[in-house]
Amino acid sequence: MTIKEFKNNFIYQLSPVYPQTEIDTFFFYLIEEYLNLQRIDITLQPNFEISSENETLLNKALARLKKEEPIQYILGKTEFYGLPFHVNRHTLIPRPETEELVEWIISEVKEIRTNNQTKSLSILDIGTGSGCIPISLKVNIDNSTICAIDVSEEALKIAKHNSDLNNSLVQFLNLDILKADSLNVFTKKTTSDEIIKFNIIVSNPPYVRNLEKIEIKNNVLQNEPHLALFVEDDNPLIFYTKIADLAKKHLSSDGFLFFEINQYLGSQTVGMLHQKGFKNIELRKDLFGNNRMIKANL
Ligand SMILES: C[S@@+](CC[C@H](N)C(=O)[O-])C[C@H]1O[C@@H](n2cnc3c(N)ncnc32)[C@H](O)[C@@H]1O
Repeated sequence: MTIKEFKNNFIYQLSPVYPQTEIDTFFFYLIEEYLNLQRIDITLQPNFEISSENETLLNKALARLKKEEPIQYILGKTEFYGLPFHVNRHTLIPRPETEELVEWIISEVKEIRTNNQTKSLSILDIGTGSGCIPISLKVNIDNSTICAIDVSEEALKIAKHNSDLNNSLVQFLNLDILKADSLNVFTKKTTSDEIIKFNIIVSNPPYVRNLEKIEIKNNVLQNEPHLALFVEDDNPLIFYTKIADLAKKHLSSDGFLFFEINQYLGSQTVGMLHQKGFKNIELRKDLFGNNRMIKANL
């Protein structure tokens, strides 16, 4: 089969499911991944013959796309903050909104460092998934010690792999944050009463209420881990309140708490932090204009 023939069939099969622009994007991703060809090569060589082995691979990917499986899971990888990340069905696919949160943290660190150039920083990410937040922070923040937690052992396997892939040292730990009374799990000083302190605690925890499932696209609902996404309708801030309580104990006095939040729960989340005694609470919108991020300190 020639590449032109494959493309025609690809468009024909996927048109009922996706808009044309998305189909084009998928096509070029797959051609690059499996045939090592760029867009220009396809224009110049429309009659390029695809080997039967590669045709099988491409058709398998096509069948998965028809079932609305995300292209990132099919390729097993994505990009976040300009870095490569492997993903699978145990890890949420990192979102552009989360890149904005990382950007905010990095710019805050620049502020901190203008006053104290050599300050070493300890950072904790709660609910790390693919490890996209701690790894991109480690790559971009010198002189930092970075820890990350997830309840999913499978997600942590991918996060550790991504840490190696990006040559960045992050300490990962399997922990159910909802059951944790303390974050001293990261310290080896078992005899000491000393409480471990972080300069930055960040989290993008599960925050989609079950009642919002009707708004969630099929490809997300059927493929991405529900453990990473959903919370009960009657307690949607369960992770935020727990993390805020732990942060009160484990955030350094000049430290910052950063959250990615549910766009519909901005004022409730701010209210909860206020009630717990956090100060300078700043709510920011994402690139789509939705309330999406919070920064606060003690
Ligand atoms: C919204 S995802 C965020 C993943 C990643 N940080 C990102 O931004 O792409 C939430 C993560 O929290 C983890 N998680 C869910 N319940 C948890 C719990 N009780 N304790 C720790 N992590 C939990 C999930 O496994 C998932 O990786």
